[in-house]
Amino acid sequence: MKTQVCIVGGGPSGLLLSQLLQRNGVDTVVLERQTRDYVLSRIRAGVLEQGFTRLLREAGCGERMDREGEVHHGFHIAHQGRMDRIDLTALTGGKSVMVYGQTELTRDLYEARDRLGGQVEHSAADVALHDLTSTKPYVTYKRGEQTLRVDCDYVVGADGYHGVSRKSIPSEVLQEYERVYPFGWLGVLSRTRPVSSELIYANHERGFALCSLRSQILSRYYVQVPLSDSVEQWSDDAFWDELKRRLPAEIAANLITGPSIEKSIAPLRSYIAEPMRYGRLLLAGDSAHIVPPTGARGLNSAGSDVYYLFAGLVDFYRKGSAAGLESYSQNALARNWKAQRFSWWMTSLLHRFPDNSPYQNKLQLTELEYLFGSTAAQQALAENYVGLPY
Ligand code: APR
Ligand code: PHB
Repeated sequence: MKTQVCIVGGGPSGLLLSQLLQRNGVDTVVLERQTRDYVLSRIRAGVLEQGFTRLLREAGCGERMDREGEVHHGFHIAHQGRMDRIDLTALTGGKSVMVYGQTELTRDLYEARDRLGGQVEHSAADVALHDLTSTKPYVTYKRGEQTLRVDCDYVVGADGYHGVSRKSIPSEVLQEYERVYPFGWLGVLSRTRPVSSELIYANHERGFALCSLRSQILSRYYVQVPLSDSVEQWSDDAFWDELKRRLPAEIAANLITGPSIEKSIAPLRSYIAEPMRYGRLLLAGDSAHIVPPTGARGLNSAGSDVYYLFAGLVDFYRKGSAAGLESYSQNALARNWKAQRFSWWMTSLLHRFPDNSPYQNKLQLTELEYLFGSTAAQQALAENYVGLPY
């Protein structure tokens, strides 16, 4: 096969980029290790910043999101027995976020790819990248016994943290930065009415909790748990009891519980790799960086990578200018480091750290006091939460 851009990974990053490129006359092939059903069974966060929603509309994939998604103008932080609201719209001069599940969004992207006849090769095994520092790189993969080859101008590594792309950068070139947090999030999805129309992030002495939602009939809740816990240890009843303990009494009293339809534990981690470009390989999304979910930056950071890549590749094919691709790593990293900072900050603000000294715990409470006593501090939170410009 021959294409202009070979995209490894058919998650949101790879699909969105291939859709944007094809609509602008650039030919792509997407290679995905899993089946489509498998990709669509993953449940992940669902808060989209405005830049991301713009990009989805530009890709011709925003219609269902605009119909079924919820525009949120603020969220709450519960702490020391009270609830304070971050008024995103007032603090950012009119901006908001869109609550729309990543699973639904990925489904919309697949359907859009189908409509345009986009080429997505599923169950592509043993993907390997070759000759990345030449002007004629290629990618090989296996389907059954057959080995196939895709010749291209550029390879985009959008294959997530466990993918092959980042690992194809020589170790003497790749710099990795990581922080592992000493806890995870136990998440439950339930077909119940959300306890609050806006998200509630809770800082509690028993640990962090989050009340989120997918729609007015589908709720998503989380509690901070030690990494040694397993899902089997947590019955639905135990989960609901713990969640209620960490919420203000009047919220807990209104919580509607029900059977979980999904329950999982995710460890929290910050990770970023540099550079994001090596020869003709360009990394995008989770393949290059991971953030803890606290600030809802994961998918949104993938979105800014896709934006820079899309602009750089279109310039390359339309104007013959490689300038955008040359500066891709630098531009994408500058924004991604800010997402790292914000996610780390929000995680530090809201969780219980088992090794924190009483001094550090006092500072955390002071940080919350300061936040809700200072419009400037709230503005700093809000401008990051709705997404820094790109
Ligand atoms: N070959 C082909 N495909 C692969 C390979 C490989 N060796 N390794 C992984 N993949 C596929 C995975 O099966 C997955 O479908 O790459 C895809 C990567 O998708 P994601 O992990 O979802 O990463 P990305 O598309 O960058 O999405 C951004 O934002 O909110 C965060 O983590 C969240 O998934 C989300 C991410
Ligand atoms: C979610 O709905 O899953 C969610 C929302 C906001 C976050 C993290 C996760 O910060």
